[in-house]
Amino acid sequence: MALITKKIKGTEDVLPKESYRWQFVENIMRKESQAYGFREIRTPVFEHTELFARGVGQTTDVVQKEMYTFDTKGGESVTLRPEGTAGAARAVLEHALENEGLPIKASYFVSCYRYEKPQAGRLREFHQFGLEVYGTQSPAADAELICAAQSIFDRLQIGQLRLEINSIGCPKCRANYHKALKEYFEQYKGELCDTCLSRLEKNPMRILDCKSPICSKIAEGAPKITDYLCEECEKHFEAVQKYLDRAGVKYTVNPTIVRGLDYYTKTVFEFVTDCIGAQGTVCGGGRYDGLIEELGGKHLPSLGFAMGLERLLMVMDKQGIEIPDFNECKLYIAAMGESANEKAFELAKALRECGVEVQTDIVGRGLRAQMKYADKIGAKYSMVIGDNELEQNKATVKNMNTGKQYEISIDKDFINSFMQMEISDEQEFKAV
Ligand code: HAM
Repeated sequence: MALITKKIKGTEDVLPKESYRWQFVENIMRKESQAYGFREIRTPVFEHTELFARGVGQTTDVVQKEMYTFDTKGGESVTLRPEGTAGAARAVLEHALENEGLPIKASYFVSCYRYEKPQAGRLREFHQFGLEVYGTQSPAADAELICAAQSIFDRLQIGQLRLEINSIGCPKCRANYHKALKEYFEQYKGELCDTCLSRLEKNPMRILDCKSPICSKIAEGAPKITDYLCEECEKHFEAVQKYLDRAGVKYTVNPTIVRGLDYYTKTVFEFVTDCIGAQGTVCGGGRYDGLIEELGGKHLPSLGFAMGLERLLMVMDKQGIEIPDFNECKLYIAAMGESANEKAFELAKALRECGVEVQTDIVGRGLRAQMKYADKIGAKYSMVIGDNELEQNKATVKNMNTGKQYEISIDKDFINSFMQMEISDEQEFKAV
């Protein structure tokens, strides 16, 4: 039979046998961000299109080429979120969270949608974990945020990640820089792609981020923002570096990092690896002091980052980092006959209520097939219930690895008896 359809290009399924890898990584991110004082925010997967157009920026690749935008039946233009920052900022503003005390620290897991050319590490639906901090201009906040990202990578035991930082200044220093960039790129007007030609007038900094090989070659010789920083931005950037030095976080200053979204000001940073091919940026972020105002709020200097979960898992895979599969089956209860099936059903439920992972037959297999299945799912113990066991209210539990067997009660003492058996078995294991 032919499938009526398959998954959409640039999307991935996470199957039950591999989801533990995602859960492991997500758990570490949750735990680590909690240590830094972040609490989770959840926002809708679609928003009014103007949020991203204004927030992410009209001259960015994301807004010009990559958004999944459609009109609803009610005639509104909505867009599937291409990233998490704009939606989180909108929610912070809409719920006036600044009145609850500053800084606000929010974390999120989001699926994002960008109509890009799919390749290894570049998807049309992908997942980000992000942290955002609202209401601080202190360089300590920039350094703390970078430390949080670094701690997550350390906990995940990811190596060979380079942290590259830069400052792209504020609107004040940006004016002179834009002038210099315009002068530079105007010499190459005949060679720039059409999108970059339109950017030349509106936002020449975006040309630095163009993916076309010709434009990026030209961009290599462009003036560097670090030569145009105002005194305040320069001081801020120096202070961020001091804090990072203090925390023992290794970084390099890379003046070519400008990031692909328009909201950034001052500090920007990326964690980059060479081990997963061309799409090596695992995490990107920075300060965005003007975004909240751009969206209609008061001046609320803010900053954040997002890391791509797919890319992160690719790196862990490439680096051979083992991820423990905690979804084990502790006990498989096999049953022969209808009454035994009912008993197995009841015992399984009772043990599960105590938090033990138990499985029993729910497809109607014969005894041999049940035992084969118990083996296949890697059950630690198995137990068979038949007429004899029902009669005597006793059953034999077998450790599937060692072959050791124990008799336990399957009457009202079952839970106790099972737990005792496990303790004895573990002691035996230790004694060996
Ligand atoms: P971004 O650099 O566009 O920044 O994306 C952040 C991360 O998401 C990237 O480093 C990458 O790991 C992952 N990513 C991006 N696009 C794709 C894709 N097509 N396929 C797979 N993974 C992808 C942002 O989105 C900003 N909102 C980050 C931020 C938060 N800045 C401040 N706060």
